[in-house]
Amino acid sequence: MIFPFRRMRRLRKTPQIRKILRETTLNPEDFIYPLFIQEELEKGDKKHIETMPGQYRYSLEDAVEEAKRLEDLGLCSVLLFGLPKEKDEVGSMAFHPEGIVQQAIRRLKEETDLVVITDVCLCQYTSHGHCGVVEGGQILNDESLHYLSETALSHARAGADIVAPSDMMDGRVAAIRETLDQNGFEDTLIMSYAAKYASSFYAPFRDAVCSAPAFGDRRTYQMSPYTPSEALKEVELDIEEGADIIMVKPALAYLDIIKMVKDDFQMPTAAYQVSGEYSMLIAGIDAGYITMDAIYESLLSIKRSGADLIISHFTPLFLEGQLDSCF
Ligand code: PBG
Ligand code: ZN
Repeated sequence: MIFPFRRMRRLRKTPQIRKILRETTLNPEDFIYPLFIQEELEKGDKKHIETMPGQYRYSLEDAVEEAKRLEDLGLCSVLLFGLPKEKDEVGSMAFHPEGIVQQAIRRLKEETDLVVITDVCLCQYTSHGHCGVVEGGQILNDESLHYLSETALSHARAGADIVAPSDMMDGRVAAIRETLDQNGFEDTLIMSYAAKYASSFYAPFRDAVCSAPAFGDRRTYQMSPYTPSEALKEVELDIEEGADIIMVKPALAYLDIIKMVKDDFQMPTAAYQVSGEYSMLIAGIDAGYITMDAIYESLLSIKRSGADLIISHFTPLFLEGQLDSCF
């Protein structure tokens, strides 16, 4: 049946009709909020992140307060990033039992019901800013696995529900799974940054957590945007190595990858709407080029592409009801 019998516009006639016909929804439980916690900040202190307007680095105390406030608004999970006071060659503070993330995990597990997810990487903790250990200008793969496993284990010991390795070394998921199991943490989940691209959209984040590499770039370990089939291989390997949840990162420039990964593997799938995606939208809104609705629209596109979970800096705005869709 074609026009004039078939009229697609009937489906869009009123807001109510459009609403009941929606196939995609965004719910509080879809969101994971990235929290930046800085060791040297005192209670009451939060530092505005210039490159991510509206986002902050929190002191431990203030991070816990913010998490509680958002939990009251429906937040279910957080992703923790730490900024240590001291850095060294191997990122020792990443796996120190009294590190800032380890302290934050304990506080959040004691004082909230949130699912506590931790970013497992070395780049905020190493003096050279790379995600693995370095020798002679090379980022060493196998040597890094020990430090990454120790980091994941220290998070599990502090009570983390889910550890999320973001380093992109080969074999890290298997190494972490083995270390966790050997130490009685069979029930700690692994959410792997499985398809993580070497992206220019991370720039504001590196500024936020002071993790820009001191030399070179991350292209020998993060993926190239030119090769989608590599994502399938990376994801397959991480699943075989024991990942419970897989992640694609960034989101907006990689919606095809999210869809492909969800369709092919039918695994719990997360997508990371990264710092650059956040700042780009905020800048457009601040300049008056686009409206706040663009935020909702981009979040919907991520959900529609197949993501079960969205890691987003817009989480507070969503939970506060400031992003209500007006489509
Ligand atoms: C590093 C890491 C990065 C992000 C999370 N963990 C970026 C990088 O590779 O430098 C990016 C987050 C964002 O941009 O929001 N392991
Ligand atoms: Zn890293």
